[in-house]
Amino acid sequence: MSDPTRIRVGQGSDSAYDILIGSGILGELPVLLGAGVERVLVIHPRALRAVGEALCDGLGAQGFSAFVAEVPDGEEAKSADTASFLWGVLGNCGLTRTDAIVGIGGGTVTDLAGFVAATWLRGVAVVQVPTTLLAMVDAAIGGKTGINTAEGKNLVGAFHPPAGVLCDLVMLETLPVDEWVSGMAEVIKCGFIADPVILELVEAHLQSVKPWQGPVVRELIERSIAVKARVVTEDLRESSLREILNYGHTFGHAVEQVESYSWRHGAAVSVGMVYVAELARLAGRLDGAVVDRHRSILASMGLPTSYPDGRWPELYAAMRRDKKSRGSLLRFVVLDALAEPGRLEGPDESMLQAAYAQICHD
Ligand code: GLY
Repeated sequence: MSDPTRIRVGQGSDSAYDILIGSGILGELPVLLGAGVERVLVIHPRALRAVGEALCDGLGAQGFSAFVAEVPDGEEAKSADTASFLWGVLGNCGLTRTDAIVGIGGGTVTDLAGFVAATWLRGVAVVQVPTTLLAMVDAAIGGKTGINTAEGKNLVGAFHPPAGVLCDLVMLETLPVDEWVSGMAEVIKCGFIADPVILELVEAHLQSVKPWQGPVVRELIERSIAVKARVVTEDLRESSLREILNYGHTFGHAVEQVESYSWRHGAAVSVGMVYVAELARLAGRLDGAVVDRHRSILASMGLPTSYPDGRWPELYAAMRRDKKSRGSLLRFVVLDALAEPGRLEGPDESMLQAAYAQICHD
């Protein structure tokens, strides 16, 4: 076990929480649960049954009344049916307002566990234990929770900051390569919007960024978490600054929809970042060299930087439906320079389409 790094999110004693990052630190979970918790429900996906049960046994050995609930793997978990099943489990466990939920898994489980915690008894504590890179640097931090409905992803949800987040880097050892690469898109996003040292580290240590352990990986994760922690501390409810975390996401979400969610999130965001970099260049706001850097760093990680030609009408329609839109104007987070995010509101469709032409392939 290594000494965990502690990053504080939020201000004030009521709403602030800690993110712990280290290797072999699952035993630190009770520290994050805090005083007064007696019952804990551990929610895990089918694929992490052994880890979920071990965590539950560990909590039991430390004097908690610990229960476990298994949910489906992947997006299937984020349904009203699964939430309803979990409310039933919580009732059977007798989980009270001073008890807690632990969500262990990828972003789908942490989103679901957070949503169930937000709604049970009008809000109980949740400690998130993300097991994928994407969940560690993004989904599990910041209190966005939700489930999907037939009408779309994440349309039902609540802001419900966790009581703590525990990132055990050992979990990444078994992460499939595609999942790793997908998570790296969000790491690189943090580099472009706020912390260019992330980009320098990826460029300088490409070979050692691929094995999931090691000092470079830990530093990349810590820096990305620090970026998100700073942003959500200032603007939990996305009234302004938090929007910058959506860099590349408007076009990325459109790709996900047009591809019927067969693309990994990070792959879609990767293309979305190149798209919005080209858009900023066309709008006269971003230097071509920074646009080229998007392509080179994302491609070096094995992320896509282009998209098939001929799909503009579907992509444009999907961007107009994006839930991050406000009113009828399309709004993009763009860069004016490295780590200088700004907004581009209501660009002409001709400019949007011209940026698409820059990222098209046959
Ligand atoms: N994933 C973007 C956010 O948490 O705001």
